[in-house]
Amino acid sequence: MASNTKKTYSTSDIRALKARYDKLLSEINLHDRLYYRENNPRISDFEYDCLKSEVERLREVLAVYAVDVKDTTIGDDRQSGFQSFAHLSPMMSLANTYSREELFQFSNHLETALGPQKFSYVVEPKIDGIAINLIYKNGKFFKALTRGNGTIGDDVSVNIKTIRDLPLEIENHSEALEIRGEVYIDKQTFIGINKIREEQELELFANPRNLAAGTIKTLNIDEVSERNLKLITYTIGHCSEKIVSRQSEVLEILKNLGFASQEKYWTAESIEEAWKHVEELDKMRHIFPYWTDGAVLKINELQFYETLGATAKSPRWAIAYKFAPERATTKIKNIILQVGRTGIITPVADLESVLLSGTNVSRATLHNADEISKKDIRMGDYVTVEKAGEIIPAIVAVDTAKRDVNSRPFIFPKICPACGSQLIQLTGEVAWRCQNLCCLPQIQRRLEHFVSRAAMDIDGLGTVVIEKLVAGQKLNNIADIYRLTFNDLESLEKFGTKSALKILGNIDDSKNRPLWRLLHGFGILGIGEQTAKILAKHFHSLDNLIAATPEELERLDGIGVKLSNAITAFLGEPHNVKIIDDLRMLGVIHGDTHGEILQNQRFHAKNFVLTGTLSSMTRQEAVEKIEHLGGNVANSISKNVHILIAGENCGSKLEKAQSLGLEIWNETDLLGNLNGIVA
Ligand code: IVH
Repeated sequence: MASNTKKTYSTSDIRALKARYDKLLSEINLHDRLYYRENNPRISDFEYDCLKSEVERLREVLAVYAVDVKDTTIGDDRQSGFQSFAHLSPMMSLANTYSREELFQFSNHLETALGPQKFSYVVEPKIDGIAINLIYKNGKFFKALTRGNGTIGDDVSVNIKTIRDLPLEIENHSEALEIRGEVYIDKQTFIGINKIREEQELELFANPRNLAAGTIKTLNIDEVSERNLKLITYTIGHCSEKIVSRQSEVLEILKNLGFASQEKYWTAESIEEAWKHVEELDKMRHIFPYWTDGAVLKINELQFYETLGATAKSPRWAIAYKFAPERATTKIKNIILQVGRTGIITPVADLESVLLSGTNVSRATLHNADEISKKDIRMGDYVTVEKAGEIIPAIVAVDTAKRDVNSRPFIFPKICPACGSQLIQLTGEVAWRCQNLCCLPQIQRRLEHFVSRAAMDIDGLGTVVIEKLVAGQKLNNIADIYRLTFNDLESLEKFGTKSALKILGNIDDSKNRPLWRLLHGFGILGIGEQTAKILAKHFHSLDNLIAATPEELERLDGIGVKLSNAITAFLGEPHNVKIIDDLRMLGVIHGDTHGEILQNQRFHAKNFVLTGTLSSMTRQEAVEKIEHLGGNVANSISKNVHILIAGENCGSKLEKAQSLGLEIWNETDLLGNLNGIVA
């Protein structure tokens, strides 16, 4: 790390440096809160690391002048709602650098500290997930703790147990053993989750790390299961017996114990060799299912760890070399205003296409009017784009020096770009909205949401088809979907008889979707999939929901006054009353049988777990059928589970269920019990 200690400073300089130090420290505290507790960072990791490194440098200077400064602490992720426990050995952080030079300096320090003793390195991917400490006692899973403040962490065992391949028993019977690793959400799952959120017009998750962090701190176990958390382990924290002498052996032992371990790591005899592997990793990391933000360089021989010791925050035997985020410069051709389903106007930068992290980027969200004015982003500006989490492009800086002399600040319009209605800003919201329900893009988005996979799941009615039908005035609202004729579809450009008939068939099938899908499809403000399921489970039919009093609604878990008001307002709005009547007449809402949870004794109020693969239906279809009949589906076996459904190639869940004496159905049993009940 560069040192400023050679320069001399006057008393007033020192006062100014101290003021800057305090200012940076409070900024860091704010970002720590946003990152660790709210999982909603406002700056990139790179910018955060720059702040940290400046504060460290200032601290070195101030220390020379004996200025008493507050220390920069390791963040603390603990939250209310979780019980905290002490780690058996502290969970430290890693010193990090973005510079090759500092990596080589790290190696020089090691050589000085260890003298003639020979040592080698291990280079591992740095997984950008959430650190987790898995405690095993006498070979049995005991607890999973987050890092917390490094000494005490939150118990997130229930959520961690949703990880499919987490070993609950291991062949190491030490009295106490800590296995450490990272919990993550793989890139593909993350993209899928964001795609559904985009369809639902919910704010996108910034990156997989934040989503994983939010997920392990979620109190709703079903939501956690759906997120499909994964785990990679890389080290042993505490172990009551000495089992290995090298880090490379640790990685192999973890694999042998049944843990997912680093898929790729290298050993190196010298820092030059280690550096080659760091470069190799940088080239190949995009193919890993998880997100890697750097390489971790560790001494291979564990015997030196104690001699080298640690600073207050990080051990001296390892360092993280972080890959600087990939950035590119391009020009904003235009600022487009998109009208969403709920009328929110989202500004988007239309960019001159540029290659970034392997893909062409031509658009970047500008979030809202405030963001544009804060960064003073203008049409024609040259900007730096970075891919947050390698996935979503964001504008991180504007090159004002290259700005045209005639350029003017972007003025966010006060009228809807699509229909010309006055835009409004609701209290407490930064977004501007168009409130005209007949605004065409809003109609289009509402229809897209209604037919989407997450709602009524009508295959074939994609964006382009809907756009044409809206433009041709065949579709004005969701009830019109059920009035479409063969002629309406066949007359569309590029439409054949077969595809028209297929879509009509899909529309017809959707009339039997469970109630929650219909409720979700309505797109009531604040009612997502989970709340729609709660409502459907409680009320069983739309008519019961319409008849419900606000008090009845507010008594339900997760529904407060705001949602209850939104539901009542939506169901009472005259246009909506008419559409609901039409849907009833068109056979989409059909009294008791539509989506009502049939109270079949084999399923009602029973807790199920599914394991292995089923040949006659997907997991999602099986879950829906069980839920439709009043059952619940959990992810892990416990004594609260009543029935395990065991498909082909099932793993340890079957043994565990057998040991607990649970009822076990194979696929034939499941089909037999479903037979004649589910259409
Ligand atoms: S070893 C003293 N190895 O990165 C901590 N950590 O920024 C020793 N991380 O706290 C940890 N990949 O949560 C280690 N291959 C890897 C890692 C890794 C990701 C995390 C870990 C650590 C953080 C530091």
